[in-house]
Amino acid sequence: MGATIIVDAFWGDAGKGKMSAYLARELNADLAIRAGTGTNAGHSVFTEDPYSFRCNRMLPLAHLNESTELLISSGVVVDPSIVLDEIITNHIVTKRVMIDYRCSIIEEYASLQEKMHNNMQRIGSTMSGSGIARSERVMRVGKLARDCSNLKPFLVDGIDIANNMAKNGTVIIEGSQGSMLSLYSSPRYPYVTSDNCNTASFLDDASLNWQLLDRVILLVKCLPTCVGNGPLPYEMDTKEIQNRGLVEHGIVTGRLKRRSEEIDFELLRKIVTLNGATEIALTFCDQLDTTMVGLRDKSKVTNTIRHLKNTVEAVTNVPVTFLSTGKFLYDMIYVGE
Ligand code: IMP
Ligand code: MG
Repeated sequence: MGATIIVDAFWGDAGKGKMSAYLARELNADLAIRAGTGTNAGHSVFTEDPYSFRCNRMLPLAHLNESTELLISSGVVVDPSIVLDEIITNHIVTKRVMIDYRCSIIEEYASLQEKMHNNMQRIGSTMSGSGIARSERVMRVGKLARDCSNLKPFLVDGIDIANNMAKNGTVIIEGSQGSMLSLYSSPRYPYVTSDNCNTASFLDDASLNWQLLDRVILLVKCLPTCVGNGPLPYEMDTKEIQNRGLVEHGIVTGRLKRRSEEIDFELLRKIVTLNGATEIALTFCDQLDTTMVGLRDKSKVTNTIRHLKNTVEAVTNVPVTFLSTGKFLYDMIYVGE
């Protein structure tokens, strides 16, 4: 019973989609709610049945558990063509899909408008149109999901759905972006996204009563990455990224991700406080220690990762409960009590 929120500590891309899909299967979740900004997110994982790359920008990746119902909540801006495409590509039974009728719509011109905006170039926006859709909402001129005839079959009142499901079952809230990309709380403005990306904002996006929240799982990427511009602590040289085989590209834009040489522990302490993390998942352990690739056995955890786990726990006073060790859905080790 109750809800679990998945939130990224830093600049995104720590594997929220994979964690959400993994937990949806482990907990046989009744409902997964996509929270966060909009289609600027790319949540992906490799599944083993057969080996295939799955990637969503709108629907929760928790759809990989077939009995989990799916909700895009009112705080998320919706691109109807992307949602409809994801339903078809993933062969999702339409009755599993719900969209809050209050969601703002990303209109066709929005992405182009962002591309023509000098400041969006400067900050390295994904140009998904999410920011324009949000600004139209703030001006109270934006179109809503209830105004789109092709979304009619999916429209619900998310307040009822989220709260009833969390009262009587298990709910996962799949946040997007990262806490350090938050519009209001991150110190790196203007190099941020178009909304906050913290526990409280995801709860609000999901229209969920805080009393129904059980767990906050904070994802911490062992060697944090960042796409787009703006400050990044302990930034690694591009040559070193290449030499160490740490090259990653942004899902939405294809840009090379920038990377930190290590976690900024002072920053992490602050992020844990801000988000009220109850657990931490250390992700991409295989990038910090390549001998961890694909490990699924708790007894095989290496000294490097054990040391990092101990340090993170000492700094934050929050238990590390998961280690993610590779690109496949089940490349995961539970290390909690
Ligand atoms: P926008 O939200 O697309 O306008 O982008 C603003 C900044 O946030 C840029 O630096 C983007 O690269 C970054 N950003 C937006 N969404 C994501 C995400 O899902 N993962 C990682 N970075 C993101
Ligand atoms: Mg919001």
